[in-house]
Amino acid sequence: MRDEQDVLTRIREARLRLATDGPPRVRSGGDFERVSVPAADSDVLRDLLLAEQPGTVLEIGLAYGSSALAIAEALVTCGSDTARHVIVDAYQEHFHGSGWAAITDAGLAGVCSLLTERSQIALPRLLADGFVADAAFVDGSHVFHNVFVDLFYVRELVRPGGLVILDDCSFPSVATAVRYFEVNTGWQPEPTPTPTRLRAFRLPAPRTEPSFESFRPFGRCATG
Ligand SMILES: C[S@@+](CC[C@H](N)C(=O)[O-])C[C@H]1O[C@@H](n2cnc3c(N)ncnc32)[C@H](O)[C@@H]1O
Repeated sequence: MRDEQDVLTRIREARLRLATDGPPRVRSGGDFERVSVPAADSDVLRDLLLAEQPGTVLEIGLAYGSSALAIAEALVTCGSDTARHVIVDAYQEHFHGSGWAAITDAGLAGVCSLLTERSQIALPRLLADGFVADAAFVDGSHVFHNVFVDLFYVRELVRPGGLVILDDCSFPSVATAVRYFEVNTGWQPEPTPTPTRLRAFRLPAPRTEPSFESFRPFGRCATG
């Protein structure tokens, strides 16, 4: 219990430090602000997960660690001994390893693991290994076909009734990819506790497989 409190304190300090001072090194000026989920939206991510009480969370896109620390805060607060946070990031070295350093410095090496591969390669392997998550946060490549493939595998990896949360649905590439799953596979928009740029979707339970004849053309979500 004391260890858990200690880790929670370290996570909260790390989140505050990141939001206030930024990471120790950046790729270029303004990069941290450009790529990271802002602190207030990271709080929404944490609170969405807290309401979910997940045991296992899958995350795509670590960068400087803003969203990862928020997810870890939720997992540690939930207090499960078997909490698991699997992070996929192919280009962590471009960020000078600072996202992963923030995670390990906070004492989270036992909870979090990092797969340094393209998610389009790592996710099918996780599926073949029988990995199942209660929730996923998708914020990796924003190229349409990569997001679509990520969401295809996330739909298989997150348990029926689980939660999928995305950043950057204001980009047409991301909005169009997720729109397919909303229109054709029954993903339901999940309300967020406070206004946020994040979008959350509840997966149907039981999982349903649409017939090709029921395919509904989908366009990008006009309202984001
Ligand atoms: C927008 S940033 C993520 C920001 C992070 N969620 C945060 O709040 O700090 C996108 C991340 O996705 C990673 N990425 C981009 N393409 C990827 C791919 N195909 N597979 C895995 N990771 C990828 C990048 O290395 C980068 O860390």
